[in-house]
Amino acid sequence: MTTTAAHVQIAPSVLAADFGRLAQQVRDAEAAGADLIHVDIMDGRFVPNISFGEVVVDAIRGATDLPLNLHLMVHEPDRLLPGLMKSATDQVLVHAEACAHLHRTIGYIKEQGCHVGVAINPATPIVAVEEVLPDLDIVLVMTVNPGFGGQSFIPSALGKLRRLYRIIEENGYATQLEVDGGVKADDTARDSVSAGAGILVAGTAIFNREQSVAEAMAAMRESVAGLTPGNA
Ligand code: DX5
Ligand code: ZN
Repeated sequence: MTTTAAHVQIAPSVLAADFGRLAQQVRDAEAAGADLIHVDIMDGRFVPNISFGEVVVDAIRGATDLPLNLHLMVHEPDRLLPGLMKSATDQVLVHAEACAHLHRTIGYIKEQGCHVGVAINPATPIVAVEEVLPDLDIVLVMTVNPGFGGQSFIPSALGKLRRLYRIIEENGYATQLEVDGGVKADDTARDSVSAGAGILVAGTAIFNREQSVAEAMAAMRESVAGLTPGNA
């Protein structure tokens, strides 16, 4: 039984957007066929960078009806969750490495009616999420070390994706796999989908100076045309 969605979802990451016209960039992504909007919250502690918080999430929420795929790169996210989830009531992803009581945090997010995901860094093994896998809507396999856009895809993440995909399939879980970091309209996207990813996050591949958002989205869609997650 195939439990993952066959349609590959593309989630532009607004971290790479022009923040001077953030709402317009989000609308451009929606008009170009984005499935989700990926929103990166960085605290300067879990990752060596600070992005933005609740106020900007509210602005993004106001600009689109698409689900927000909220990626919290935040140490002990529990304090921030109530405020962030007021406006981003779609998909909330916390890092396994950042939560002392991951099971409790997952439960809290689910109680608020949100889809819940857990992200793991390139060096974090699958066992960090295995015990909670049946509870998860999404596992986000980081394909860069989190903190910055525009980094190179780490190919060894593909093996981890494949192994996770197999565990999810064998157990009949409904968990989707997501990749984030260095994903372009090339083999990085294709190989990720073949390895099992159903959600592709892309920052600089979608928001850049070389292409319009529509052109970049079309190229990304074209790069995975005909592929379904896990069809390796
Ligand atoms: C990185 C963030 C990513 C980032 C990806 O830590 O979590 O979502 O925006 O950017 P690209 O696609 O440029 O690697
Ligand atoms: Zn992210």
